[in-house]
Amino acid sequence: MCGIVGYIGKRDNPQIGLSALKRLEYRGYDSAGMAVYNPEKQEIFCLKAKGKISELEAKFSDAPLHGSPFILHTRWATHGEPSEANAHPHWDCEKNIYLVHNGIIENYKELKELLIAEGHKFASETDTEVIAHLIEHYFKNNLEEAMRQALKKVKGAYALAVIARKDPGKIVVAKFGSPLILGINDNEFLVASDASAIVSHTNQVITLDDNEMAVLSPNDFFILKEKPIEKIEYDAEETQKQGFSHFILKEIFEEPDAIEKSIAGRMILDQGLAKLGGLEQVLEQLKKVDKIIITACGTASYAAKVGEYMFEEYAKLRAKTEVASEFRYKNSILDDKTAVLAISQSGETADTLEAIKEAKRKGCLTLGIVNTVGSSIAKETDAGVYCRVGPEISVASSKAFISQLSILALITVGLGRQREMSLVTGKNILEELQKLPELSKKIFNQADYIKGLAEKYSIYRNFYFLGRKYNSSIASEGALKLKEIAWKIHAEGMPAGELKHGQIALTDENFPAVVICPSDSVYSKMKNAMEEIKARKGKILAIATEGQEDIKNLADDVIYIPKTLEMLTPILSTIPLHLFAAYLGLELGLDIDKPRNLAKSVTVE
Ligand code: F6R
Repeated sequence: MCGIVGYIGKRDNPQIGLSALKRLEYRGYDSAGMAVYNPEKQEIFCLKAKGKISELEAKFSDAPLHGSPFILHTRWATHGEPSEANAHPHWDCEKNIYLVHNGIIENYKELKELLIAEGHKFASETDTEVIAHLIEHYFKNNLEEAMRQALKKVKGAYALAVIARKDPGKIVVAKFGSPLILGINDNEFLVASDASAIVSHTNQVITLDDNEMAVLSPNDFFILKEKPIEKIEYDAEETQKQGFSHFILKEIFEEPDAIEKSIAGRMILDQGLAKLGGLEQVLEQLKKVDKIIITACGTASYAAKVGEYMFEEYAKLRAKTEVASEFRYKNSILDDKTAVLAISQSGETADTLEAIKEAKRKGCLTLGIVNTVGSSIAKETDAGVYCRVGPEISVASSKAFISQLSILALITVGLGRQREMSLVTGKNILEELQKLPELSKKIFNQADYIKGLAEKYSIYRNFYFLGRKYNSSIASEGALKLKEIAWKIHAEGMPAGELKHGQIALTDENFPAVVICPSDSVYSKMKNAMEEIKARKGKILAIATEGQEDIKNLADDVIYIPKTLEMLTPILSTIPLHLFAAYLGLELGLDIDKPRNLAKSVTVE
């Protein structure tokens, strides 16, 4: 989703901004642009390009711009097609105000009509442009004052970075509902949508909160409220590919490490207890909770579903997954005995954030499993657990999902031991969880074999992914990952039992199924589904447990995963599915880090 970068300080080469902007490429975008204030000419110059940042960079090399401040942007189209005219920055009639924006202005049509009636001329189809004209409407040589007035009229979400020719020497930034951070360095300040853009310049950051505005000048910055400076906990190296051809491959290969980081220091083994510091302040409230709703989007919602099964079976707590984009509208029955747990890698997903706000309005205890420290969801929830797996750069989520599952297992023990779970069961789950980093590493010994399978199966254009019980939503995750990363393929994931209720009509020799069938309580039922597929000549790629030799009679190909507890099998069965999707995307010649039409951090509803 849109990315913002801004700079003010002693350096006057906007190449710094372009390099920072490239670090936001992972968020997904379809055009890019920049505006630079030239102090000698006292003008703002602008460059825009449809497509990749490299297109913008080429224009910049042909006609370099110099000066400071400068603002840059990657746009992910919402209002108006991807085009140069719709790319940011946008400006007002006088070419005084230039701004970049992430978010959606919901009342832009009404505002635009009023501004047009006043004589303003618009150059784009975007919602963003109204903000430039609205600031122009209030502008009397003080940018922040005009912005303050303008933003009172705006409904929706925004992170904004604005410069003005007639009030030079400053960038004014404002935030409501979309993320924005400030980077602090000696006599220079940066602005960005997230820390990965600026971590090579500084690790001193301030995260803006909703309704905050800041004024950055070359020697100083001013926020409307005193705020602590925080330290970014990862370094620039973690945002590099580190020898892998693609971020997604690096991140999948980091999955064993993700389990390790998610569970490290969070177990008291001899007492069978989970030690989750982020939940300590709400432990008493959690004891009184009689229902938990887990809310999330996309991949994170599939983790939620696994959590639902874990909570009900082991913690004996009523649990339900609600897709976050539906949560607000469904009007679920909630009360002060309901906890609502949000799961989000970015911590900025607008649907999930709104679900949490709705839950709070209804008096629920709100919890989070979030990767990005200091993100909006992390701040909005009453308590939570961080994933601690470092930045996830590739658009499709991988290691964060594995971390979410690991943390859900820990929370299951935490909640379970407050209820009926015995010491023995608690200990057993934790001991098995502790083995997973090592066990999961073994799966990567089959990486070349999985690559070969991806090549073999790349002739097909449709796939089913099937699983039961704990692995039913892993089937959905496998299918989602395949259709995202290898987007020329259509895939559907479902509980295996559903196949016979309609879907099997499509099964034939051209419609293979990936079947997740570890040795667990539903294995014999999974074999039934496989028999049904075989009887219709469908090819089967099975994910089975080491030692399950009989599976070879049914499946055309088998990927083996190590044996673990049934509730933990999703953590292992996901890994080959992620690898399969990545290799299949590569086989089809696709950019597996930036799937078509997708954005990493979905900050619009
Ligand atoms: C899929 C994917 C998305 C995200 C979803 C939620 O690979 O990445 O489905 O899982 O947009 O994002 P977060 O976890 O940031 O809330």
